[in-house]
Amino acid sequence: MKVNNICCIGAGYVGGPTMAVIAKKNPNIKVTIVDINEERIAAWNDEDVSKLPIYEPGLAEIVVETRGKNLFFSTEIDKAINESEMIFISVNTPTKTYGKGKGMAADLKYVELCARNIAEVAKTDKIVVEKSTLPVRTAQAIKSILHNTGNDVNFHILSNPEFLAEGTAVQDLLNPDRVLIGGESEDAIESLANIYGSWVSQERILRTNVWSSELSKLTANAFLAQRISSINAISELCEHTEANVNEVARAIGMDSRIGPKFLNASIGFGGSCFQKDILNLVYIARSYGLNAVADYWEQVIILNDHQKRRFSDNLISTLYNTVSGKKIAMLGWAFKKDTNDTRESAAIYVADHLLSEQANIAVYDPKVPAKKVYGDLNYLETRSDEENKDLVSTFDDPYEATKGAHAIAIMTEWDEFKAYDWKKIYDNMKKPAFIFDGRNILDKAEMNKIGFEYSSIGK
Ligand code: UDX
Ligand code: UDX
Repeated sequence: MKVNNICCIGAGYVGGPTMAVIAKKNPNIKVTIVDINEERIAAWNDEDVSKLPIYEPGLAEIVVETRGKNLFFSTEIDKAINESEMIFISVNTPTKTYGKGKGMAADLKYVELCARNIAEVAKTDKIVVEKSTLPVRTAQAIKSILHNTGNDVNFHILSNPEFLAEGTAVQDLLNPDRVLIGGESEDAIESLANIYGSWVSQERILRTNVWSSELSKLTANAFLAQRISSINAISELCEHTEANVNEVARAIGMDSRIGPKFLNASIGFGGSCFQKDILNLVYIARSYGLNAVADYWEQVIILNDHQKRRFSDNLISTLYNTVSGKKIAMLGWAFKKDTNDTRESAAIYVADHLLSEQANIAVYDPKVPAKKVYGDLNYLETRSDEENKDLVSTFDDPYEATKGAHAIAIMTEWDEFKAYDWKKIYDNMKKPAFIFDGRNILDKAEMNKIGFEYSSIGK
C-alpha cells in the first residue's frame, strides 16, 4: 500500500519525537499527530519551541523544520484517522491500578479505545501500527476489535516497538541499532519498512512475526534493566568489601561478551518503561503458570526497590539517625539527564521516604517544573497535598537550593552539576556538609579537599 498520510494517536515522549523524525525523513508524507489532551497539542503548536511539552536535545530544531509543512499536531482525531493509510497507536499503557492484575499488568484501556475509534470512523483500508509497548498477543485483541466492529474495510496490524531512550531520542531515532516490524501481511510490513528505509539501511530493518516483535520489546527492556540491577547488587557488596564498583564495571565491561554499556551503578533505574515492562513480563509468565520465569524477572524490580531504599536509609543513618527538620537539597528530579520526564524517578521515592522522616526537601532540576515535583509526590498519597507543600520547596537556582542545607543528594546525572562552584556551595551549607552522590558523578578527592563528607554508590 502506498502511504501518503500517517496519523499517530498519542503526542507523548514516544509519538512526538518518532513522528517528527519520520516527517523530517519523508517530506512527501503528511504526518499528523493527534491527542485527546488539548493543552498538550497547544504546547506542540506553540510558536515558542522552548514550550514544547517534552524536552529532548535536537527535537525543537526538527519541529521547526517540519511543523506546518508535513508535520501537524491536532485534536481532530477522527479526521486524521480517516485521511491516513497508516495509523500508529502511541498512547500510554500504564500499570493497572485497579482490578485483576492491579500493580502488575498493563492497562490496555487506551489502546482498546483507539482501536474502537479507528474501527468506527475508518472508511478505507488501514495499516494499524502498535507503537505502544504491549503485552505479547495484544495485536490479536486489536485485530478482533477492528474486524468485528469495523465498516467492512481491511485492517492490517503491525507491531513496531520503539527502542529510543529519552534524553537521546532524536539520535536513537536517526541512527537506530535496528527497527523491528512484526506482522502477517508482507505488503503491510514493506509499506512500513519503506518509510524507515528513507534513512535506515534495509539490513537494520528486522521483519518477524507479531508475537516475537511484541515480546522482543519487553525482553530488551528486561535485559537492560537486569544489567542495572546486577551492577547495583554488586555495588552493595563493594561498599562492604572495599572494592570499587567503577573499577569492577570497567574490568567486566572489557570482556567483549559483556560489553561496557549500561553498567553505571546508580540510585536505581526509573522511567516509564523498565518497571512497567518487567511487571508485565512477570504477569504474563505467571498467567501461563511459569512461576520460575516470573520469579526470576521479578527479582530485578525487588533489587531496584532495595537500591532506592538503601540510598535513603544510608543518608538518614549518616545524618546521625535523624533528618527531622533538616534541609536536604536534592539535585535532579528527572529519571535521567537530558529529559524533563520524571515517571518512576528514584528521586520521588527517596524524597517520599525522607519526608516520612520529617525532612525538609529542597529540589532543583534544570528542566523539571515545580508543578511536576508536587504532582509526583501528591500522586503517591503518602500524606496530604498541603503537607507536601509545607515540607518541599523548589528552586530555579542550585546555589539557593543548597543554601543552609545539611546534605545534598544527587539524584540525576545532569552534566551541569559537575561544573558547579562546589566551594561556594560548601561555604553556604551547614557543617559537617554531606554529599550523597547517587550517580557517582563527582570526584571524591576533590570534594573531600573542599571539606565535604562525600559518599557515593559502590565505593
Ligand atoms: C507511551 C507508553 O508509556 C509506552 O509504553 C509506549 O511504548 C508508547 O506510549 P509515552 O509516549 O512516553 O509512552 O507516553 P505519554 O507521554 O504519556 O503519551 C501518551 C499520549 O497519549 C498522551 O499525550 C495522552 O494524552 C495520549 N492519549 C492517551 C490519547 O491521545 N488518547 C487516549 O485514549 C489515551
Ligand atoms: C529505556 C530503553 O533504554 C529504551 O530502549 C526503551 O525504548 C525505553 O526504555 P529510557 O527509560 O528512556 O529507555 O532510558 P534509559 O537510558 O534506558 O534509562 C533508564 C533508567 O536506567 C534511568 O533511570 C537511568 O538513569 C538508569 N540507568 C541507565 C542506570 O542506572 N545505569 C545505567 O548504566 C544505565
